[in-house]
Amino acid sequence: MPSHSIIDQMQTLINVLRQHNHAYYVLDQPVISDSEYDHLFQRLKALEEQYPEFIQTHSPTQQVGGQAIAKFQTIHHQVPMLSLGNVFNFQELCAFDQRIRERLFGQSPAYDVELKLDGLAIALHYQDGQLVQGVTRGDGQQGEDITHNVVTIRNVPLALPLSDPQHQRFPHRLEVRGEVVIPKLGFEKLNREASLYGEKIFANPRNAAAGSLRQLDPQIAAKRPLAFYAYSIAQCEPPHNLKSQHDALQWLKQLGFDIAERQWLVHDIEGVQTCYQHVLQERDHLQVEIDGIVVKVNDFNQQTQLGFLSREPRWATAYKFPAQAALTTINNIEWQVGRTGTLTPVARLTPVKVGGVTVSNVTLHNISEIQRLDVRVGDTVSVYRTGDVIPKVEKVWHEFRPDNALSVLLPRHCPICASPVVILEGEAIARCTGGLYCAAQRIETIRHFVSRKAMDIDGLGDKWVEALVHQGIIHTVADLYHLNNHREQLLKLDKMGQKSLHNLLEAIEQSKEVTLSRFIYALGIRGVGETTASMLAQHFGTLEQFMQAELAELKKVPDIGDNTAQWIIDFFNASHNTDIVHQLIESGISFKASAPLSYQPLNGQSWVITGTLHTLTRDEAAQQLQALGARVSGSVSAKTKAVVVGEKAGSKLDKAQKLGITLYNEAQFIELLDRFKV
Ligand code: IVH
Repeated sequence: MPSHSIIDQMQTLINVLRQHNHAYYVLDQPVISDSEYDHLFQRLKALEEQYPEFIQTHSPTQQVGGQAIAKFQTIHHQVPMLSLGNVFNFQELCAFDQRIRERLFGQSPAYDVELKLDGLAIALHYQDGQLVQGVTRGDGQQGEDITHNVVTIRNVPLALPLSDPQHQRFPHRLEVRGEVVIPKLGFEKLNREASLYGEKIFANPRNAAAGSLRQLDPQIAAKRPLAFYAYSIAQCEPPHNLKSQHDALQWLKQLGFDIAERQWLVHDIEGVQTCYQHVLQERDHLQVEIDGIVVKVNDFNQQTQLGFLSREPRWATAYKFPAQAALTTINNIEWQVGRTGTLTPVARLTPVKVGGVTVSNVTLHNISEIQRLDVRVGDTVSVYRTGDVIPKVEKVWHEFRPDNALSVLLPRHCPICASPVVILEGEAIARCTGGLYCAAQRIETIRHFVSRKAMDIDGLGDKWVEALVHQGIIHTVADLYHLNNHREQLLKLDKMGQKSLHNLLEAIEQSKEVTLSRFIYALGIRGVGETTASMLAQHFGTLEQFMQAELAELKKVPDIGDNTAQWIIDFFNASHNTDIVHQLIESGISFKASAPLSYQPLNGQSWVITGTLHTLTRDEAAQQLQALGARVSGSVSAKTKAVVVGEKAGSKLDKAQKLGITLYNEAQFIELLDRFKV
């Protein structure tokens, strides 16, 4: 190939990559997915490897992405914040290992394996134990001073503990690096709220985290569920004398930093591959979004021996997961009517596999989101999915728009009941005004009423509810308790036999005895979720008291703000609602005592107790943990959150150590229990 055409190809790739670097690092608005970026980057790298004589000095492979933006004070990193090389399969991983072993003259290094958190790298500077500055990575040489935002991140230690076992006091100067992320659940909540108020929907948690830190007003970051996970010590005075990355992480933990949920120490590259497979399986269950794992030579001396190659350390690499974005077309955009009448646009897609799951529908949230994305029926879109985060349209490829693409307008009438659609002031949400006249709202109200956390009527799935409403057998939730009178009609329904009918009627009968809190939740009052319902039940004690409550009294209940209080008043002011409640009571609904509201900070976590404890028995320890919401398991696995280690602990301790799981000795465990006593 003539050299000018190779240089041309390189130049084109460089231009495209630089453009995307700017969009990603400076504007916080990536135009293509990470995997698409990586692909272009790899293409350029391959060309450069083949023709090293033509490498351009300004190639992004020779430097670290983007530049700092102007609105914050620019800070020079005393130790540059580098980037990582990538591998995408076992073969490339083995080549990485091979290069390392050659440079270490045949020694086989142990590897520290970490999660590759998909957030934003920052540096935290501590002086005499006090946090003095937080800086973004920027272009790796200089970043922006974001101290005012960093101090709002809940798990960033503002001051280090006075002493630690290894040093007796904190270092005079310390620079800790790590990743700022928004955990998945917090992210979904953030987008739900953004959608309600017509604000911009974030494409993914990384963008949301970056957008939060790049704000001049710290009030914004403070409201976002940001979290910081430490992964390295860039500077320490006096020197820390730690020997390895694994030790460094443990030390950071002792200093009060959170480290990522998982971390492993393995002795060969096969061990790294096992971790990779494992994390790939577990990915959806992790609290935070990750885009791969990071593999680091564990020993610091070996790291020094290996050194750096322009933009990357030779001793570490990212091992990236397969793409989570895919291209497809939008075949239609329909409006779904929710329980409270909200109209949500849903795009029907040509089904496409994204990260192993077929996606055929994706929510577009609201009309302003449709306008912001400028999306039309017929458009080609990138669909992005990760973990339990619901799939979303990340990018619309306007360049591929067909001539007959159709714009979508907000309907003026409800697609189900034809009642007028309104947009209430201060909200971005369009609502059908049909109330319970609207079949869609009725169906959703009934679905909610019978759902597991509400009246828990087993055997009355979504399809049945739809059929019952469409056949005109039931109109409201109160009609459920008179199904007995419609046996003949019910038996005519598809798939309804004597036995299923019997079971259904039995389940309905059983649901009549219910806690007040479930009943309040089942009514589906706007703003009243499970927790709020439970607080209302506790506060008012009886249904009558609750129904008669005035605004001021409602506002005394923890968790209830002006809006929810007003929505409750509105609900009982509507006579069709109070009629239904009275009919339900007349059908024999009665209230049993609720279980006391408990404080369960360890909810959903799996704990293991091993070895002999002295201050309490293992059973007692297990009971205490269960009371705090934890599940106590007999064996250690990657899902284990923590292990309580007593005397003479054996193989479970070994396994936990290998998996890098948090350990508590008896004294620490007792201290933890004390801390939770409220
Ligand atoms: S180590 C020179 N560890 O990945 C060492 N980085 O592609 C570089 N990242 O800028 C950082 N999780 O933002 C390291 N456990 C982890 C990481 C991690 C995520 C990010 C970090 C870095 C980027 C490099």
